Amino acid sequence: MSNAQAIHFYDTAPEPEGSAPLLLEGLLAPQKSISPKYFYDERGSELFTEITRQPEYYPTRTEMGLLRRIAPELETHIGPDSVLVEYGSGNSEKIRILLENLRPRVYAPLDISREYLAKAAETVAAEFPWLEVRAACVDYSDTFELPPFDTDGRKTGFFPGSSIGNFSRPDAEDFLGRVRAQLGEDGGLLIGVDMKKSVDILNAAYNDTAGVTAAFNLNVLRHLNRQHGADFDLDQFEHHAAYNHDEGCVQMFLISKRSQEVSISGQLVRFEAGERIHTENSHKYSKEEFLAMAARAGFEDNHTWQDEKGWFSLFYLS
Ligand code: AVJ
Repeated sequence: MSNAQAIHFYDTAPEPEGSAPLLLEGLLAPQKSISPKYFYDERGSELFTEITRQPEYYPTRTEMGLLRRIAPELETHIGPDSVLVEYGSGNSEKIRILLENLRPRVYAPLDISREYLAKAAETVAAEFPWLEVRAACVDYSDTFELPPFDTDGRKTGFFPGSSIGNFSRPDAEDFLGRVRAQLGEDGGLLIGVDMKKSVDILNAAYNDTAGVTAAFNLNVLRHLNRQHGADFDLDQFEHHAAYNHDEGCVQMFLISKRSQEVSISGQLVRFEAGERIHTENSHKYSKEEFLAMAARAGFEDNHTWQDEKGWFSLFYLS
């Protein structure tokens, strides 16, 4: 490849073996659950990318359109030579728009999916030879330290895709507070947030007719089989997703088709027929609600952009 600069790779995500107790705790609780971070093994990251191309899944294309529209304007908020930190970089598709328009000095993609992150970081480094890439494999749902940057440029966080929706409302507020501290006094955060809207549109987005979201949801069990010594039979569970009004979020479950027993790192877990494993919450916000939360987390200034339908928002918080 033509780029002379090698990427830096920091690895601080916990080893799979270390997470067994938490995983089991979730599966032995009265309401069984698996944290959504287990979605993102390499296959899961690929399936998520495929979800973003489904006609029903509006968030990604809406956010991309919005980003392209506001990119020139963003320059006035962010400026050149910054350190751009992306929380949960996935395939780093959206960041290209920012890299082209903002010309930061350093790009730091953070992601929990080790192999996928390494590949994406290499690709970005090859495409943008002038850019210093410092990738870090971290679990950002937990506390962690940013990799070292040998520049004192302003830090800009980028947290696209409404991934903030995976946190409960209180955890989202805590996360914003941690990010604010990480980015420093002169830092800023560009964050994408999915808005409350018609239930039909929300439910369709998480039940695409091609079945990609179902495959993504079920893949979490394959991931546990491969990496965490489980023996789930994927044919014996089915995908369910629906908007929950009271919680203000789309919830995803895997429903056990029959009564069965599954072994997870040596521990037997029983499922009744029809019993659900909760795998994800995807919280939806109103603009006012989100800005109030950002203010409580310590962000004083903000600018909001929305698509014409008001389905998705980008906020710049500082
Ligand atoms: C990556 C968490 C933003 O909640 O919409 C997509 C993940 N789950 N379809 C979302 C997801 C099912 C996505 N986030």
